[in-house]
Amino acid sequence: MIVKGIGIIFFESGKNNCKKCRKFSYRKPKMENKMTGIGARNKRFSEQLLKWDKNENTRQMPWKGEKDPYKIWLSEIILQQTRVNQGLDYYKKFIKAFPDIQKLAHAADEKVFKIWEGLGYYTRCKNLLITSRYILNELGGVFPNKIEDIIALKGIGPYTAAAIASFAFNHPVAVVDGNVFRVLARVFGIKKPIDSAEGKHFFTQLADQLIDKTQPGIYNQAIMDLGAVICKPIAPLCDECPFQKICFAFQQNKIDLLPVKEKRIVIRQRWLYFFILEYKNKIAIRQRKEKDIWQYLFEFPLIETKSGKSRNEILILAEKRGVLKKRGYDLISISSLCRQKLSHQLISGRFFKIKLKQNPVSLKDWTWISIKGFNKYAFPAFINQYLKQKF
Ligand code: ADE
Repeated sequence: MIVKGIGIIFFESGKNNCKKCRKFSYRKPKMENKMTGIGARNKRFSEQLLKWDKNENTRQMPWKGEKDPYKIWLSEIILQQTRVNQGLDYYKKFIKAFPDIQKLAHAADEKVFKIWEGLGYYTRCKNLLITSRYILNELGGVFPNKIEDIIALKGIGPYTAAAIASFAFNHPVAVVDGNVFRVLARVFGIKKPIDSAEGKHFFTQLADQLIDKTQPGIYNQAIMDLGAVICKPIAPLCDECPFQKICFAFQQNKIDLLPVKEKRIVIRQRWLYFFILEYKNKIAIRQRKEKDIWQYLFEFPLIETKSGKSRNEILILAEKRGVLKKRGYDLISISSLCRQKLSHQLISGRFFKIKLKQNPVSLKDWTWISIKGFNKYAFPAFINQYLKQKF
C-alpha cells in the first residue's frame, strides 16, 4: 500500500488484525530495495542522525549508554509522563536505594512509595514492585532479553519494551515517543494524528524502517535527544538541525502545525476538602484504593465537590456524610485556597483542621497515626504542599 504524508510518499505494509500479533508483526521492518528511493532515503536519514549524535549531541544523562536492563527499565518507567530534569534525582535515589532487581523486589512497598513520592502516576511504582518480584520469583532474577517476553511484563508497553530491547540487548526495534513523533512528523511532513491508532501504527512502521540495524540503541537515543534538544515542541532550534535542508515543516513553514493531534484535552475541575482530624494526639489517614492518579498514596478524610463551596456548606456536607458528628468537634483552622494544575485536571481545595471531642467511631476503618509520624507515608503533592507549611 502506498501512503501519502503531506509532502512525502512512502510505503506501509499491510495490517494484521489479531490484537496480540499486531503488536509484534508491525515491528518487523519491511523488505525493500536498499539502493533506490525509500531505502536510500532511510539510510541517509539514519546516517545524518548518527553523525549529528557523534559530533554535536552533548546531552548527558546517567542512563545513557547503560547496558543493565534493570537500570534502563527503571529510567524509562520514571521518564514516562515525567520531564528528564525532574526524573534525574528520582533515578539517582532509586539506584542508590535499590541498586539491583533483587534489592527492589525485597523492599517494603512503603519504602519504595516514599521514594517515588512527588513523581505522580503511582501505578508505575506499583508495577515496578510487581514486575521486580515476578522476575525474581519466576524468572530466577534474570531480566528477559526477547522483545515478546519483555513486553509481556506488567507495566511495560511497546515504547518501554523497545527501549530496553535496543539499549540493553541491541535489538533493532525503534522507540516511538513524543520526541520521535515530532521529529518524523516534521521532517517527513506527516499529518496523521499521533494520538490515533492509525497514526501510531504508521509512525511505528516508519520508525522501524529508519532505524540503524547495526547500532539501534545509539540510534534510538539519538532521535529522542534530537527531539528533546533541537526539534523542541516550541521554538525549535532549526538552524542547528541536521535535517534543516530536507525538513518538510521547515521548508514549508509548517513547524507549528506538526505533529497533528486529533483529541482536544478536556481539563476536569475538582474541588477537594480534606479534614485533618485530631483525636488524642493522633490523626486519621488511609491508603487510597481508587484507581486514579493517587492510587496507593495516603490521604485524610475527604469531601469532593464539583464546584467551590463555602465553609458552612462543607461542614454540613461533612456531618451528612459521617466525617464529622454534629457538635462533636472544634474547628481549629481552615487553610487558604490550594491549587494544583495537572495535565488533565485543575485541583482546588482547602484543609480543615479539626479537634474531635468524642471517640470517632464512624472512622473506625481509618488508621490513626501520631501527629509527628507523617514522614513515613507518601502523600499526593496537593496534600504535601499543605503539610510542608503546617507540620
Ligand atoms: N524519555 C524517555 N526515555 C528517554 C531516554 N532514554 N532519554 C531521554 N529522554 C527520554
